[in-house]
Amino acid sequence: MDRQDLLFAPITPSQATHFACEARFVADYGTSVIKLLSPEPGEKILDVGCGDGTLSRLVQAGGAEVVGIDIDAAMVEASRQNGIDARLMDGRALAFQCTFDAAFSNAALHFMRPVPLVIESVARALKPGGRFAAELGSHGNIAAITTGLVAVLDRRGIDGGAHIPWDFLTAEEFCDSLETAGFLIDAVHTFHRPTPMPSGAKAWIEKLGRWFLDALPPEQRDEACEEAARLMSHTMKTARGHWTADYHHLRFKARLATK
Ligand code: BEZ
Repeated sequence: MDRQDLLFAPITPSQATHFACEARFVADYGTSVIKLLSPEPGEKILDVGCGDGTLSRLVQAGGAEVVGIDIDAAMVEASRQNGIDARLMDGRALAFQCTFDAAFSNAALHFMRPVPLVIESVARALKPGGRFAAELGSHGNIAAITTGLVAVLDRRGIDGGAHIPWDFLTAEEFCDSLETAGFLIDAVHTFHRPTPMPSGAKAWIEKLGRWFLDALPPEQRDEACEEAARLMSHTMKTARGHWTADYHHLRFKARLATK
């Protein structure tokens, strides 16, 4: 299939829209990636950025043998408590060669910058013909959130742009990186997924945007967070007081060429 036929194909928004807290969204939306990957019993599967292991557990329950990696020691420990063989490892420098039948990742690759390095690292970890399916933020993802957080740092004399902790590629850039690493692309979708923030922007920033706040002295963080939320409210808060994050995501499935 031609690259143009793969890009920007519509995706069916089948996910429910309301959940109890932000953290639940990640795992609930992640089941789409698992379906795309179609893991088989007995396969060796790598979860890149496994977090607390919720999705790894799902795959393991289906009979596959899962190894999870994460750069956050607390997450690795949480995964282990969940019964996952989790390793403390940088996704850009995986210590595996031709080991896995398939790899997946949900809402994590964009934190492993630059993303093309992770793609190459996963390619090395897979056996020839190995599958790779993932969902991550794409270009324009959480634009209002990022702009608000950059602005509050800039206003305090800190280069906010230098503290952006994520890398959101366009589908075109992402496909180029997959192909350069030796993958054949089976499917790519980009889609807008307005995502409810039940606890509001401030709670989201404290949990998922804390890298910006860490650039400030502790006594300035709360006020900066409130200011960022105020800036975001103009585009992210409805007249009825509901907050929605402007997620733009990319989901793909690819397989390594057999050489
Ligand atoms: C995302 O899933 O797009 C995302 C989540 C947390 C921080 C940044 C992006």
